[in-house]
Amino acid sequence: MWADDGPIYLDGNSLGALPLATQARIAEVVGSEWGRGLVRSWGKWVGLPREVGDLVGEHLTGAAAGQILVSDSTTVNLFKLVHAALDAQPGRTVLITDDDNFPTDRYVLQGIAAQRGCELRMIRTDLDNGLSEEALLAALGPDVALVSLSHVAYRSGALADMPRITGLVHDAGALMLWDLCHSIGAVPIRLDASGADLAIGCTYKYVHAGPGAPAILYVRTELQDRMQQPIWGWFSQNDQFAMGPAYDPVPGIERFGTGTPQIIGTVAVQEGTKLLAEAGIDRLREKGIALTSYLIRLADEWLTPHGFRLASPRADARRGNHVTLQHPEAWRINQALIAAGVIGDYRTPDRLRLGLPPVTTRFSDVWDALDRLRQIAADKTYEDLSAELTRVT
Ligand SMILES: Cc1ncc(COP(=O)(O)O)c(C=O)c1O
Repeated sequence: MWADDGPIYLDGNSLGALPLATQARIAEVVGSEWGRGLVRSWGKWVGLPREVGDLVGEHLTGAAAGQILVSDSTTVNLFKLVHAALDAQPGRTVLITDDDNFPTDRYVLQGIAAQRGCELRMIRTDLDNGLSEEALLAALGPDVALVSLSHVAYRSGALADMPRITGLVHDAGALMLWDLCHSIGAVPIRLDASGADLAIGCTYKYVHAGPGAPAILYVRTELQDRMQQPIWGWFSQNDQFAMGPAYDPVPGIERFGTGTPQIIGTVAVQEGTKLLAEAGIDRLREKGIALTSYLIRLADEWLTPHGFRLASPRADARRGNHVTLQHPEAWRINQALIAAGVIGDYRTPDRLRLGLPPVTTRFSDVWDALDRLRQIAADKTYEDLSAELTRVT
């Protein structure tokens, strides 16, 4: 999938590399299904959001059929599910998240709290080690409708204990929503077994579905028909082409759809999922742990003497698929690293984030990247670069 003569790519946790099968399939969908089939192709396209959702559920997220829909963006799906969760929990008016959750999650929750006059209770999270169970327990109470957290923290890579935290939230009578953006495709997820109520997640990172590919949403079967999302679009309408006068949503997961689905992106989600299924998510996780622990070993040995510090959990079971290193000059060091042929990532305030997608990362990539990093740190070549922050993806 990834060209051998390209840079070393350690940012697949922002945008996964392009699978060759996806390139070919998209060419086919565009050239043949759209180009020649025209509107007649809707017959084969219309079921894809649910079909591909089932595929994702089977191979990546431990969800039985009929609970995942490929639709919209993570941000929009979060908006839909939080509104629906509040409506489904009358009398409970508090939302909980943590202060290191991904910005879009915090902003959407802030917005909904402001629109509905609810309280958003923000728990403190350690930037390096992730969620604190004590802080969550202290925030939970009989007024809480929903807890919304990330499975893998975008900055540190800390991996939350999904079944345990979901259990604590349920003990307080609240619903649990997981953001899977940094775990789907890299860490085995068992949504059904963990008891999770709701989940959202993007497909352009470890699922390799491409920039802006549609996201997934999960709603546990038992909740579906008592939840109503706030965007009353015609793609969740019963007998859609009757063009009836009033909104009447279909039963099941498709009631969480909105408007016309993004077919080319959905096909890319299908191809990416097939690729990961072929490798097997448990084997990918095994390789991911081996890669991240190898990186940590080299960083301890080569980079600690140059002022780097590990800013991710050290225990394998507590870490997702990226490793974050703290250094006061992380921004300029990352720019120097990119110039040296290794694409890493910077995150505020002073973090170098290295993502190691298991299907595209070799152990020799880790060695080469860290070797270049130790050279940059030793020679301080980054000192020639501007310290001004420019666009960060
Ligand atoms: C944890 C998390 N949630 C949400 C998003 C983004 O959502 P969207 O695809 O709607 O921009 C990201 C993007 O990196 C993310 O890391």
